[in-house]
Amino acid sequence: MTIRAGVVGAGILGSQHAAFLAAQPEVKLVGVADMRREVAERVATPLGATAYGSLAEMATQCLDLVVVATPDPLHLQPCLDAIEAGVPCIIEEKPLATTLDDGRRLMEAIERHGTRFFVNYANRAATLDIATGYVLQQGLLGELVYGEARLDDNISVPTQMWGGRSRDWAAGSSTAHFLLSHVVDLLHWYLAPARVTEVYAIAQQKVLGNTPDVYDAYLTFDSGAKIRVKAEWIKHIDELVEFYMCFSGSKGTLIYNKRGGFNTSAGWRANLSPEVSAQELLEHRERLGERGVEMRALVHRPAPATATLSAGGATDMHSLEFQGLGYGETMSLCRSFVDAILDDTLTPSSWKGHGPVPTHVDGWRQTQVVCAIVASAASGRVVSIEE
Ligand SMILES: NC(=O)c1ccc[n+]([C@@H]2O[C@H](COP(=O)([O-])OP(=O)(O)OC[C@H]3O[C@@H](n4cnc5c(N)ncnc54)[C@H](O)[C@@H]3O)[C@@H](O)[C@H]2O)c1
Repeated sequence: MTIRAGVVGAGILGSQHAAFLAAQPEVKLVGVADMRREVAERVATPLGATAYGSLAEMATQCLDLVVVATPDPLHLQPCLDAIEAGVPCIIEEKPLATTLDDGRRLMEAIERHGTRFFVNYANRAATLDIATGYVLQQGLLGELVYGEARLDDNISVPTQMWGGRSRDWAAGSSTAHFLLSHVVDLLHWYLAPARVTEVYAIAQQKVLGNTPDVYDAYLTFDSGAKIRVKAEWIKHIDELVEFYMCFSGSKGTLIYNKRGGFNTSAGWRANLSPEVSAQELLEHRERLGERGVEMRALVHRPAPATATLSAGGATDMHSLEFQGLGYGETMSLCRSFVDAILDDTLTPSSWKGHGPVPTHVDGWRQTQVVCAIVASAASGRVVSIEE
């Protein structure tokens, strides 16, 4: 089978999607559409595809797959147009939607037409996120009690990344939709079947003016876990992105310096529950290896000390550890979406038993939580999330 594909939105991500699809042997990249036709041409022509000024124009080409990579608040219309044109498969860039109303309309259309709909939560393909999910799902930290996650961008993202369009682009989105969509999806994935039931958030809006500088939120899960998630757009730092997570279980702690900032190095460490024996530690390392994650297994005896103060140090600790960057390519998950279409399944073998690939159902959960963060910061109140 050859998948006839088109991409709508030929900017930073859309051009990567187009190049990716054109390089897949089972895919024919038919067209690239962008409301800025010259941008569509710049991407389409070198890849041997046709440029279009809109999805409606491109959809006359009998497409099996459309990738929607328009800016965050502009996902709905191209998705609806593709669904209504009868395109059977859609890959949408995150987030699913930036308002509950858009999300509901999209969900209704997907379900009515039976569209196969994937959302590119690209972080799910990162090896260390796979490892984090594994450790939490297996209960290797005991019961998850508290977590924190911060994903911050350099201030140059909302002010310069999209050239002269940057300020409008940022104003149409926010750190909640652009960044916390990734974090919220990861948390739902790591902790499934647990769901966020309540959100309390604050925001600051002093620097960027047209969009909040930061969102900082506490999420309560129905499992009882409480997790703080925070995303900033006003950091004057050398890196483009900083991403850090830490999870405290009743019996262990996982530290994930996904993209270390100043004076930190990237790495991942899970200090497991003392109930995990040395033999089990090696077995877990082996199972992670089968999922494509190569870890070091350590038995060590930490001696926590600061200056003349010390505490503990008498017990052995069993840990899994990875030094360095463990993230995948932005397009890794898209290969699994292509396999899901070819194999007619949500669990293609290239997805190595990580559960189903993310769909609109995951997208709706993410959208509900991120919209609750925005609503809570605006009202100063706790926002509950309905099933
Ligand atoms: N998965 C990831 O890791 C990841 C990373 C970065 C961005 N993203 C997401 O990818 C999406 C695209 O981001 P980007 O940085 O590529 O944006 P971009 O502005 O560079 O590209 C979007 C393009 O869509 C075009 N466009 C807008 N409305 C259109 C319409 N109705 N029809 C046709 N074309 C239209 C614009 O002209 C622009 O060229 C966003 O939702 C963003 O959050 C995902």
